[in-house]
Amino acid sequence: MAGFTFSDKQEGEITRILAKYPFKKSAMLPLLTLVQRAERVISPDAMVAIGQKLDCSPAYVQSVLSFYTMYHTDKVGQYMILFCINISCQLNGCDKLLQYTADKLKIKVGETTPDKKFTLHREECLADCTNAPMMRINDTYYGNLTEKRIDQILESLD
Ligand code: FES
Repeated sequence: MAGFTFSDKQEGEITRILAKYPFKKSAMLPLLTLVQRAERVISPDAMVAIGQKLDCSPAYVQSVLSFYTMYHTDKVGQYMILFCINISCQLNGCDKLLQYTADKLKIKVGETTPDKKFTLHREECLADCTNAPMMRINDTYYGNLTEKRIDQILESLD
């Protein structure tokens, strides 16, 4: 018996997700996303529970989630900040802004603030290069970043 239990609401969502796919394993990413959003982490017990839903091993679940940067095996903060470090953002000063953000949050890149509010990571191209430098916080994209804009964005988050 896995130490992770889906809520009744999640069970209903999983039933709806599974109905969309001819093969259970095809629902892997939606289930990983469901758990990541709810728990902010995909624990080993959650891998077991997801594997049970999809008739596959936890090792297979782990092999899939480890490919994607949006899934985490360490619990992330309420707000996951992903700074693009690819070429257009590089040319527009992302390194300086990333360091500015790290200094402002008093953490290093890859860390979470002690209050578990923010986690800061680098990310590859966010596919909005015309608005470089870019960052994504959870599901929202922010472009044309400056130090002042970063201050305003972070202060706007509860
Ligand atoms: S290089 Fe940063 S969004 Fe594409």
